[in-house]
Amino acid sequence: MDSEKRPLPRHVAVILDGNGRWAKAHGVPRAMGHKAGCEALEKMVEAAARMGLEYFTVYGFSTENWKRSEEEVGALMNLFRYYMTRIIRIANENNVRVRMIGEKSRFAPDIIEGIDRMVESTKDNTGLNFVVAINYGGRDEIVRAARKLVEDYRVSGEDAGHIDESVFASYLDTAGMPDPDLMIRTSGELRLSNYLLWQLAYAELYVTDCLWPDFNQEELEKAIAAYNKRERRFGGR
Ligand code: IPE
Ligand code: IPE
Ligand code: MG
Repeated sequence: MDSEKRPLPRHVAVILDGNGRWAKAHGVPRAMGHKAGCEALEKMVEAAARMGLEYFTVYGFSTENWKRSEEEVGALMNLFRYYMTRIIRIANENNVRVRMIGEKSRFAPDIIEGIDRMVESTKDNTGLNFVVAINYGGRDEIVRAARKLVEDYRVSGEDAGHIDESVFASYLDTAGMPDPDLMIRTSGELRLSNYLLWQLAYAELYVTDCLWPDFNQEELEKAIAAYNKRERRFGGR
């Protein structure tokens, strides 16, 4: 273990990608890759809590992922059902507060109930904030925020000139959360895939070839070590 005390990023966001490639490499169906991905995720929640991160946000299902085959979407929904209950236990054992970003009304009623239970039963935990992005899309989030904002301003009759970045951000699903400092994508793809488009404006990006089911605390520490070597800039000189 590295005994040197390095600063931790406050907020790490992850695109957990590569479950399908992992399944292919192991000669098993895609659903098995997703199951292995869920197992890796459980371990990573514990690891992030243990490491003392404040926010750990993961992209579990995008607004575009509904376009996958019915079979794959169905398998993912069943994994959500199973792992949501396990996440509640893990969260409560590790003082983790679970939050959700994305639009939940498209899910089946029992999944919506499960999401509500995860959020409600962990809301008093004061350690890691584990944020799950499901049926999440950055553009969808921005459009939903704009809709709410317009509605509020129409009702209040306030001058739209008062809308600044912080007002707008308070309408996003991530209202009140710090922006990610570090964004990790597993499995090598150099894309944002509609993830946290507003919030990642100045995040440091880290892409690893490691497939998500193989991702672990050591890989997260490698990403944080790379982040710590960088000079962060926010547009100034
Ligand atoms: C990420 O793994 C999980 C989800 C998007 C739900 P993929 O299923 O995208 O895996 P690859 O990209 O096909 O390897
Ligand atoms: C992004 O991964 C979405 C999630 C990880 C949930 P995808 O595998 O769906 O993204 P693309 O298709 O490579 O852009
Ligand atoms: Mg993928």
